[in-house]
Amino acid sequence: MTADPSAQPKYTKLFINNEFVDAVSGKTFATLNPATGKEIIKVSEGDKADVDLAVEAAKKAFHRNSAWRKLSPLQRTNLMNKLCVLMERDKKFLASLETQDNGKPFAEALFDVTYSILTLQYYAGWTDKFFGDTIPAGGFISMTRKEPIGVVGQIIPWNYPLLMLAWKWGPALAVGCTIVMKPAEQTPLTALHMAALAKEAGFPAGVINVINGFGPTAGAAISEHPQIAKVAFTGSVDIGRIVMEAAAKSNLKRVSLELGGKSPVVVFDDADIDYAVETTHEALFSNHGQSCCAGSRTYVHEKIYDKFVEKAAAKAKARKVGNPFEENIQQGPQIDDEMLNKVLGYIESGKQQGAKLQAGGKRIGNVGYFIEPTVFSDVKDDMKIAQEEIFGPVQSIFKFSTLDEMIDRANNVQYGLAAGIITNDINKAMKFANSVDAGSVWINCYDAVLPQTPFGGYKHSGIGRELGKDGLDNYLETKTITMKLV
Ligand code: NAI
Ligand code: MG
Repeated sequence: MTADPSAQPKYTKLFINNEFVDAVSGKTFATLNPATGKEIIKVSEGDKADVDLAVEAAKKAFHRNSAWRKLSPLQRTNLMNKLCVLMERDKKFLASLETQDNGKPFAEALFDVTYSILTLQYYAGWTDKFFGDTIPAGGFISMTRKEPIGVVGQIIPWNYPLLMLAWKWGPALAVGCTIVMKPAEQTPLTALHMAALAKEAGFPAGVINVINGFGPTAGAAISEHPQIAKVAFTGSVDIGRIVMEAAAKSNLKRVSLELGGKSPVVVFDDADIDYAVETTHEALFSNHGQSCCAGSRTYVHEKIYDKFVEKAAAKAKARKVGNPFEENIQQGPQIDDEMLNKVLGYIESGKQQGAKLQAGGKRIGNVGYFIEPTVFSDVKDDMKIAQEEIFGPVQSIFKFSTLDEMIDRANNVQYGLAAGIITNDINKAMKFANSVDAGSVWINCYDAVLPQTPFGGYKHSGIGRELGKDGLDNYLETKTITMKLV
């Protein structure tokens, strides 16, 4: 499928109650193309007043007598599948919009659309399968009913705009919630197109609402809203805390958080070295390093360390960086100048703290936000680049000698999102998998995030799980109904 670099966004306003409307304030803001730094288009800027209108619509759509609530589970399945058919129809357009707005290579944007469709299809199958229990309880007949929690707020980031939308819409729609979503201010365009597709698919008014806007205004209005029953957030740890605090101070809404990571990938000396170099390279560099589960700490056994570093540096130097619409480009720009400078700051700190720069290290040109694929060796656990999330194309390679030492070191960070191990020794692999603080462990692979498998973090990486059966729990309340036979 060939890209359409000039694809023009069709929708720029807020989507409330199945209509595209201006913001109450009339304000707009520009969304930029990170490959050029230039404006693509202006979109409406939502704030508290708009969130209030969206919540009102979502509340009405959740009323027990609403069209949405009266649908049978299989009618919800059909609507979700219809949405997937429309996404398939508009696949090239959606991917082209994503590449313009986010800067990821077109092939990766297409992959994201495909996985978004798979995620929604997966959840479309759950509409009639979230069962309660019947419970033996003395002289009573007791059962539990799993009920949709109500109006949910969903705040998503810019690194996988469409995919994060699918992760959040899927389970919420499957169980019958209604949605007020805020896409990231950097990447609103695919969410707006998805809103139009949802209307075309036949979702009743108010079930899905999309409010573009900024975090401290529109985002805060969601996390503070007294009528929103649950907020799902993906983004930074700092904002995760703010969202949770706002939830606590307002109406104790349920909170799920998918935050950052500093995930280790451990390579043993028995591994096929080229396979390990390739896997750890992709684990870090895919999506320009802007991935919550990026394998950002590469630990290599001392016996193969020097050879590995040499190969990893060569691989990074060979990575093709440039216009994300061009074929064979593997890395586009970082999302914005804030992230560009943040990542360059980490590279500087790595150099200052004594890590050895083996590849890259600099900005490319001065148009757009491109950074050379960068590799540091001789990284020590207490360096800043070893502890903090860089969220950019910077691979840090550490040396280790024993599994036991490795497990302690892997766990010695505040995060616990993911981990990987590459070895042919099943005992080493399983011992590591059982002991590492991580929500996902990948053995002899990385980034195998599947719609069917739960994903989320230990420690500061978050609360709750998305995807899989567990992903439904975020959107359900449990009701116990007990009857006495008289
Ligand atoms: P962020 O956490 O500021 O933004 C994520 C989302 O939260 C956006 O939609 C934003 O508008 C919203 N938001 C911001 N302030 C808010 C508030 N006060 N109340 C409610 N919502 C608010 O992330 P940002 O600034 O884009 O990136 C900073 C760092 O966060 C990155 O360097 C990276 O380390 C991490 N990050 C992690 C992601 C992940 O996938 N876990 C995704 C994006 C960023
Ligand atoms: Mg921010």
